[in-house]
Amino acid sequence: MTGRISEETIREIRERADIVEVVSSYLPLKRSGGNHQGLCPFHAEKTPSFNVNAPRQIFHCFGCGVGGDVFSFLMRMEGMAFPDAVRRVAERVGIEIAEETISPEEERRRKEREDLFRINEVACAFYHQILLEAPEASAARRYLRERGYDGDTARTFRLGFAPGRWEALAGHLAQKGFDVRQVRETGLIRPGKENRGDYDLFRNRILFPILDVSGKVTAFGGRVLDDSLPKYINSPESPIYHKGRVLYGFSQARETMRKSDEVIVVEGYFDLLALHRAGFANVVATCGTALTEDHARLLKRYVKRVKLLFDQDRAGQKATFRAMEPLLTGGLSVSSVALDAGEDPDSFIAAKGAEEFRTRLDAARPVFEVYIDSVLQAHGDAIEGRARAAEEIAASLTLVPSDIERSLYLKALSERTGLDAELLKAKVVKKAPAPAAKPVRGAPRTEAGGHHPPPPQEDLPPQEEYPAYGVEQEQPEPRGQRPVRSPARPKEPTREQKAQDWVLRLMMFDAKTRGVVAGEGVESFFVEPVRRAMGGILAEFSLENDEVEEAQLLSRFDEEQKAVFSGILVKDEEAFAEDRERILQDCRLVVAKESLRRRVRELDEQIRQAEQAGDSSRQAALQTERLQLSRDLKK
Ligand code: GTP
Ligand code: MN
Repeated sequence: MTGRISEETIREIRERADIVEVVSSYLPLKRSGGNHQGLCPFHAEKTPSFNVNAPRQIFHCFGCGVGGDVFSFLMRMEGMAFPDAVRRVAERVGIEIAEETISPEEERRRKEREDLFRINEVACAFYHQILLEAPEASAARRYLRERGYDGDTARTFRLGFAPGRWEALAGHLAQKGFDVRQVRETGLIRPGKENRGDYDLFRNRILFPILDVSGKVTAFGGRVLDDSLPKYINSPESPIYHKGRVLYGFSQARETMRKSDEVIVVEGYFDLLALHRAGFANVVATCGTALTEDHARLLKRYVKRVKLLFDQDRAGQKATFRAMEPLLTGGLSVSSVALDAGEDPDSFIAAKGAEEFRTRLDAARPVFEVYIDSVLQAHGDAIEGRARAAEEIAASLTLVPSDIERSLYLKALSERTGLDAELLKAKVVKKAPAPAAKPVRGAPRTEAGGHHPPPPQEDLPPQEEYPAYGVEQEQPEPRGQRPVRSPARPKEPTREQKAQDWVLRLMMFDAKTRGVVAGEGVESFFVEPVRRAMGGILAEFSLENDEVEEAQLLSRFDEEQKAVFSGILVKDEEAFAEDRERILQDCRLVVAKESLRRRVRELDEQIRQAEQAGDSSRQAALQTERLQLSRDLKK
């Protein structure tokens, strides 16, 4: 989980692994020429565009653009971080990893986390067994049955029941020999006052185990069987539980999220169960926590669209608009589902049925539209109110990442308030995209553990909405843990991209090309940042041998670069009989053209501004320059 694995070892593991075998354990592959093909597990498709190339030990999907080596595959498939993927493959091929440079402190932390997970696991099994079988859980079983849930649901979600006794779990764990200090750390038991023994946190509650992305139990939520308070309590934060980073039901929803490219976000445990019962499996629950940037990033790895389906009351509406921020800035498309006032998804489905529910889901509206309505309504129709509302909305428009959408909203807002569109536009200050969501690119990295720099750890202040139970202990996770996010679906590669891919390909197999690119500078051949960074890395390789060693390259590329790389390699080798100098010349041209085009776009904007300002001499000068540029472009 922590510690660095040496470059040498990673290479050995990669060489010993069989990517075809690893991939085949997840999906059926068929041989086709030099490649194996199958239906891509990372997007929904009917004809296979997912290729695995055994000789090169890489995979690539032409449909959605993901690709890389065996580690990349596991990272995406299992939501693992790089070191964990390496460990997983190492186990498969029977290579023992000697941890380097792992400090005793790190080692201790890792072991501690493992211990805590084990305790939660034992507790989960204990409570689950009780719910399924124990006489003392008969009221809990009845409660669930009355709400419409049977043993299947209980088993799917590993629901449990904590009996009313004070030391049921404490006794069980003690008998199993767990360290009391560690058990307290999970929050499951709490130290008794004076000379009384430790007692259980959860008593007389139905339990929902909360799993992390890899399916391990990180915490529990527990509901009472009647209307006593508090209705729910949760495990406290611990070294293995950061509520801002997990979503209830995530691990069960993963597959359908990936396939449908969409997730429904609800508030409560029972809402989630109700949706599952109604046939919707791509659902996660926030369970009383505000949605964080980490949550948004997690979802972004699996889906493009988020449907917010919160309780139809004031609190739910507030939560909806609050969730809008991290999700929109995270680049997700967000809509909001309306049910009848006062309902939550659970009660709505119970009252109106799954069909009607689906109709409502399909009628979800873009969340920003809903937000505009609500702000306008809240401020009333008087002039002052409209002005205030428009100001507030214009300020929030920075959340909408797409220029086009922003301008559409502005237009709509101007129409509805009667305020001047240009005036409103001035109120929108464009915010840079969330920096944390950007992977670091291109920087050569030599240490193995540092392949996948995590986004800056912004450890947000805990967003409490409910009283915390037990110790609050925020322990930052070790770095290098965060798995990669999904790339955006690529469109058909553009001519420019294809040209650049040719250069990259040449650089991999031909020392002369590397020399030329290194000599003239990558800027002359690459316009696109990812490919330019890759060119930079390749340009540094020795000119002694024609072919660059793949393992060395892989160890220097990040995940995004690996995906491009696999796309280049997995293509038919024969197509390679092209003339080197011509390809390079084409690329120079493409790049030069692109920079001319960019200049033209700039000029157009300046001309527009000059026109608005009524500066006709400037306008004329700019137009002359533009004309010249268009001529150059034609050439
Ligand atoms: P039911 O009443 O069983 O249908 O639960 P619900 O999920 O509809 O609950 P509600 O809408 O009241 O709350 C939504 C979610 O917020 C719950 O599922 C809990 O995760 C959380 N929550 C609600 N009340 C409390 C509370 O008192 N303490 C804590 N820690 N969380 C709560
Ligand atoms: Mn409810």
